[in-house]
Parts: sequence; structure tokens; C-alpha cells
Amino acid sequence: MQITKVNKSRISEVDFDNLSFGANFTDHMFVADYKDGQWKDARIVPYEPLVISPGAKVFHYGQTVFEGMKAYKDEKDLVWLFRPDENQKRLNISAERLDMQAVPAEIFNEGLHKLLEIDSEWVPKGNGRSLYIRPFIFASEETIVASTSSEYKFMILLSPVGVYFSNDVKLKIADKFSRAANGGVGFAKAGGNYAGSFYPARLAKEEGFDQVIWTDDATHSFVEEAGVMNLMFRIGDKIVTAPTSERILDGITRKSIIEIAKDSGIEVEVRPITVKELIEASAKGELKEAFGCGTAAIISPIYAIGYKDQLMEMRQKGNRYSELLKAKMVEIQTKAGEDKFGWTKQVTFA
Ligand code: PLP
Ligand code: COI
Repeated sequence: MQITKVNKSRISEVDFDNLSFGANFTDHMFVADYKDGQWKDARIVPYEPLVISPGAKVFHYGQTVFEGMKAYKDEKDLVWLFRPDENQKRLNISAERLDMQAVPAEIFNEGLHKLLEIDSEWVPKGNGRSLYIRPFIFASEETIVASTSSEYKFMILLSPVGVYFSNDVKLKIADKFSRAANGGVGFAKAGGNYAGSFYPARLAKEEGFDQVIWTDDATHSFVEEAGVMNLMFRIGDKIVTAPTSERILDGITRKSIIEIAKDSGIEVEVRPITVKELIEASAKGELKEAFGCGTAAIISPIYAIGYKDQLMEMRQKGNRYSELLKAKMVEIQTKAGEDKFGWTKQVTFA
């Protein structure tokens, strides 16, 4: 792998005590090109603008997929990844649905580990901070014929981050717009899924909500996931979460939280959840908590959910599952506690 390092690091310009999500990038990035039927020229270069043809397909047809993962530093300054193989596999599941070239695991892993080694100084420690990792693939072939690209770039960027939502959030259940449909690309981490969500999210924001809770496109009666998180509801003392489907992202945090909850003696039900059921549970005082879970957000408690002109408020103050589960999750991710599931992987430096 060819490595070109910066002459001078920008790390001293970054205020690590006030990191806003995704606004700072480390000194280097990883790039590989798919051309003439193969991935080649894997390299690490200074983080800098790319030169890309305005005719590249990505700009016209949105053929692009991405991943989101994090690296954490433990007490001894060792760097750890959380279930990285899951992200590596999901990137290629997304790529396949968008008819893009898969990135071989060796290229993904070697690029990621080498990049983390070179920019390891940038992995922040403590206070909910971590190094967010953004692998992505995009169509770079220069032609605007509407068909699959024969050329791609695979890149990895690193960004030191703090918490995604600094406060509990208020979400609005979608009753008109949809994020995904059966047979579509909802399960893929495709750029277009997010592009299509920004307009409904802005309208919700104008009404005082932080994000939208997506419902099934056919009936808008089942709650599915939020803008950047899967969802969990505490009804009585059970956690209920929707099953993944071709419309929902198979979140790595979601499946980890399900296992941690079960291991902590909390009953978890994976089944379709209706809006009606949430409204009824809320009226009876049984909807005690709701929270989103995802790599960026970790676990983000929801204090209120709006549906049409109704507002459901979550009233659980102490002994919140969201706090218990988040603490256990962060303990595993940062190696502060035992990783009995074997989810963490050390980044080894050559
Ligand atoms: N759902 C959507 C739409 C997301 O963007 C994310 C974030 O990655 C998630 C769910 C949670 O997935 P994960 O836990 O793998 O980060
Ligand atoms: C993640 O949690 O990794 C996400 O993908 C959220 C991102 C869209 C900000």
C-alpha cells in the first residue's frame, strides 16, 4: 500500500472538548480505485479535496453507499473497533443492492487498520468521544448514461466526534412521507435513503421535532426506524423493537442492545409495533421509555413522540433501561468492562 503522509498535522487546530459531529477530519484518508475489472491502487494520502469529473455517475444517479463505525481508546491508549466485520459485510450487502462492486475484506481491513495506525493520535478518549469511521463507495465513471458504473472509488475517512444528540430527543411519526418500500433499498446504507429523508425531517424540525420516525409505506400504521437510528420501546418492563426487513437497516447497535438486554435479564420482543398500540400504551402509562440506537447516537433517549395532533411523553425518570444499556454498551466499546460477547477487536499497529 502506498502511503503519503502530511508534512504537518492539523490536530492542534481541533478543539477536542467541543467536537461537533462529523465536522472535523483527520490528517489522512484511504482510497482505492475500481477500474478495468479490479480494485487497485490502495493508498493512504493526506485528507484533501478530490478531482472528479462532473460527469461521474455518482452526481447524477446517486450510486453510492456508506458505513458508519467507531474506534475507541482504552485506558492504556490501545485502539479498539466494535464489531467491524459486521460493517465490512453490510457495506457489501448495500453495494450489491446498488449494483456496485463489492470491496474485498482484505482491502477494507488493511486500509482501515493502517489508516487508524497513522492517525491514532486522533482517537479521543473518554466523555462519550470516539473516532467516527466513514467507509464509502461511489460511482466514478465519467458518463451520464443511466446504467451501472464500471468504475468506483472506495474511501475511508476518520472524524473525531462527541455525542450525536446531546439531549433527549422528540420525534415525529411519519403519516404521509415514506423512507422505504418493499423491494426498494431501505435495508441498504445508500446515500439516497438519507437524501430523501431530509425534506420530511426539515418539516418535522419546523414543528419542533428532532427527527422522523418512519412507518411502513403501505399503511403508515407500523413504526419502523428513525432517521439515523433503530428504535426500541419499553412497554411495561419489556423492550419491544420492530423486526428488520427489506425496508429497515439491520443496525449493529440494535442487535447488540438486544443481546445485552437479554443478558441483563430484560425481556425483549422483536415484533411489528403499531402506532395505535403505542398510543394506547401511552394512555395507560405503560409506554415508559423509548430510545433510538445507532453507531453515531449510541443510545439516545426519546422524551416525546408526536403523531398527528397527539403527543406521547415518556415519563420514566429513574432506573431507565436506556441508561443501563448505554452504560453496558459503552463499557464494552471502550474496554472499561468485560466484553463477554467477544465483539471488540484491537487495532494492531505494525
Ligand atoms: N437506521 C438508520 C437509518 C441509520 O442510519 C443507522 C445508523 O447507522 C441505524 C439505523 C443504526 O445502525 P448501526 O447501529 O449499525 O449504526
Ligand atoms: C451511523 O450511526 O453510523 C450513521 O450512519 C448515522 C449517520 C447518517 C450520521
